[in-house]
Amino acid sequence: MSLSSYLNNVVKQSFTNNGITIDEKVIKLSDRPDLSQFQCNAAFELAKSMKQNPRVIAEKIVSDLKENPIFKDVSVAGPGFINISLNDTFLANFIQEMSIDPQMGIKADKPKKILIDYGGANVAKPLHVGHLRSAIIGEGLKRLAKELGHDVIGDVHLGDWGRPLGIVISEIKRRNPELVYFDENYQGEYPTESPVTMDDLNEIYPTASAAVKEDEERMIEARDATAILQDENKPGHRGYHALWQHIVDESIKDLKKSYDNLGVNFELWRGESDCFKSIPEMMDIFESKKLLRQSNGATIMEVDEPEDATKVPPLILKTQSGSVGYQTTELATIYERVKEFNPDEIWYVVDGRQEMHFKQVFRGAYKSGIVPKDTRLRFIGFGTMNGKDGKPFKTRDGGVMKLADLLELVQESAEKKLEESGLQGLSEEEIKSTAYKISDATIKYADALSNRTTDYIFDIDKFTETQGKTGPYILYSAVRINSLLKKALENGIEPGKVQAPTKEEERMLMLTISRLPDIVDMAFENKSLTEIANYLFELNSAYNTFYNSTRIISEDDNDKRQSWVQLSKMVGKINKKLLDTMSIEEPERM
Ligand code: ARG
Repeated sequence: MSLSSYLNNVVKQSFTNNGITIDEKVIKLSDRPDLSQFQCNAAFELAKSMKQNPRVIAEKIVSDLKENPIFKDVSVAGPGFINISLNDTFLANFIQEMSIDPQMGIKADKPKKILIDYGGANVAKPLHVGHLRSAIIGEGLKRLAKELGHDVIGDVHLGDWGRPLGIVISEIKRRNPELVYFDENYQGEYPTESPVTMDDLNEIYPTASAAVKEDEERMIEARDATAILQDENKPGHRGYHALWQHIVDESIKDLKKSYDNLGVNFELWRGESDCFKSIPEMMDIFESKKLLRQSNGATIMEVDEPEDATKVPPLILKTQSGSVGYQTTELATIYERVKEFNPDEIWYVVDGRQEMHFKQVFRGAYKSGIVPKDTRLRFIGFGTMNGKDGKPFKTRDGGVMKLADLLELVQESAEKKLEESGLQGLSEEEIKSTAYKISDATIKYADALSNRTTDYIFDIDKFTETQGKTGPYILYSAVRINSLLKKALENGIEPGKVQAPTKEEERMLMLTISRLPDIVDMAFENKSLTEIANYLFELNSAYNTFYNSTRIISEDDNDKRQSWVQLSKMVGKINKKLLDTMSIEEPERM
């Protein structure tokens, strides 16, 4: 149990002893750390409804708590607030307990089965900066959930089935109509080698997608190609499908490399296309429940509700040309996920601009009963990463910023800074690999720190600073702690039992360490890494303040020295754990 939950129980008990029952939390960190460590506002807040004087209630609680030896100071402040500070020995013992728990107090009350849909990469297109947030937030939430003891499965849910594939295939057909894939009468085996490489695809998609927007005829070709790809009974389907498979395989090879480099791993590499076989079955269910309607040749399901402030449009389950799109595959994927995994929750870490899509889909899923009422579907939307001009991030020459471009940009800047800092004795190779880790941390930390739901500006100068809330600051601090621990070990100093703090810097550090389980709970609750990024900064700042005022290795008192090494070790361990949730690796030196 976390320190604050423990305190909360103690203080609540005191209210109960005085005939007052409260459901909410009664303890919070003090707004005035110079006056106390914690505060309780419950007496003040309850007094009105109880028609009593808040100070009178507060005084009763205080006199009760004063009996308890875990407190050093308990007093009434102002109109009825209670200030609380802990006894130093109690605090040290609490930290000592945390130090021997491998989970350091991190644990969920009730483990759940959660399927996380994140990544969302599209076949035939490289990752762009928009995919970064989904990858980092999704992977981070997955790792947090695992850390808490939940059973989690991550699925990349590749965009591999809709119109974009028809656009690519029709473009290939225009360029190379002689390819065997376009010969309707061909009966033999198709080549094992793909006719297009990923480099080809990187050029084909943008060209073709611009072309269909300009040219109605090409749009019709793309639509037809999509329909042939999706319908087994259409002439030419077999060749289209074989070509499609090559495109998917080439893309997956490339995407796996990109995600690997980011340290992002999916348990499942499924795509929109995988649910295809379940669509007729699902449509039958919809049909039998009389949920479908024809509208202008399309098959739709109404999902609006009378209390909607803005109208929620119907789901389009089959287009006029008979093909299915994003909404249909989304629903059929849910249908399959429920059958195969029966999760307690499904989370979607997707661009905030897709909120309406998920609102429609979730309504359709519950309404039709393909998802049980108690299975929670959650949309975890995120804002856009913008450039300094506040507009979606572009490359220097105005093109779409691919993820690889961004990584390169930040890496260049990290290398330059490393060289300027004149780090002694690093080989060129070490500079490169360290610069890679720093730039990776720069991007991921900045992204994690930014409020999940709002847009943010990627300010490369600010994010690469070595002071303040930045990836480089946390890494410097982590590297320093690791090297101190190494030095301690070389000097034969083992981490020992945590001693009562003897100065404010040490007390503050212990209090900060004690917050870890609450921070993880809060991040999980809010489905956000911002709390983790902020806490890493607070923890390392508290550690550095302590470090700057303490001579750890050369301290004469062995108990103190060992206790300080223990505190350092705990901070090192928390750094590693939390950086790991952001898929950030610590360099050896920097
Ligand atoms: N491929 C989609 C896109 O790039 C994102 C997929 C998100 N996941 C989902 N289940 N719809 O917009």
